[in-house]
Amino acid sequence: MVGNTGSPPGREFLYDANLLKELDWSSVKDFTKPSISNVQPGEDWLLVRPLKIEDYDHGFLKLLSQLTKVGSVTKEEFIRQFYAMKSAGGYYVTVIEDTRDHSIIGSSTLITEFKFIHECSLRARLEDVVVNNTYRGKQLGKLIVLTVSLLAKRLGCYKMSLDCKDNLIPFYKSIGYRMEPGNANSMTIRYDETPPATAPS
Ligand SMILES: CC(C)(COP(=O)(O)OP(=O)(O)OC[C@H]1O[C@@H](n2cnc3c(N)ncnc32)[C@H](O)[C@@H]1OP(=O)(O)O)[C@@H](O)C(=O)NCCC(=O)NCCS
Repeated sequence: MVGNTGSPPGREFLYDANLLKELDWSSVKDFTKPSISNVQPGEDWLLVRPLKIEDYDHGFLKLLSQLTKVGSVTKEEFIRQFYAMKSAGGYYVTVIEDTRDHSIIGSSTLITEFKFIHECSLRARLEDVVVNNTYRGKQLGKLIVLTVSLLAKRLGCYKMSLDCKDNLIPFYKSIGYRMEPGNANSMTIRYDETPPATAPS
């Protein structure tokens, strides 16, 4: 098994949990009412932390299936992917745990990319944001997105961007994301679908 952190196998985080300890929430404190943060999430049974392997058994993939198709993923496949991400670096899958039953009720992923541009900078992407539908409307979406956004800032990224459905534009605007004039399009080519017989004109 890959992964060399000194932690017992299966009890380690995907990334260093200390990175979440000192995020500076001062610039975003007005985005939540009442004001919350990853260390003071509003309820003592909420825990914001990096993903760990045990989350496979506590509903992590079921949660992701509320976002998109997950398909069948065995624990072995999950562990392999976990260590592939960990050894590659740059993957910050962050979850909210309900510590009363250890279920995973929210998740978002920060991915960082090394660049040559902007003087060899680091840029960030936000992916796979989801909150369990029975917990929605309680600021947990804002909590998990703001946590990884502040983490990106702490890691030194010069910008963070995301793709989202039209109806979620107000959600992301309410926590500081902007559509940049002339630079707010998202285009896709899919390799997991049969292409159309003729290309549309
Ligand atoms: C998007 C999502 C993560 C928001 O989670 P949440 O915990 O309900 O969000 P919050 O409680 O922090 O809501 C924050 C604000 O966004 C608004 N909002 C949340 N989800 C919304 C939605 N689907 N459509 C429109 N507005 C939404 C809320 O009304 C709230 O507004 P307010 O601050 O003015 O009251 C959640 O709805 C979800 O998991 N959706 C399914 C997966 C998905 O679409 N993910 C986003 C991929 S880009």
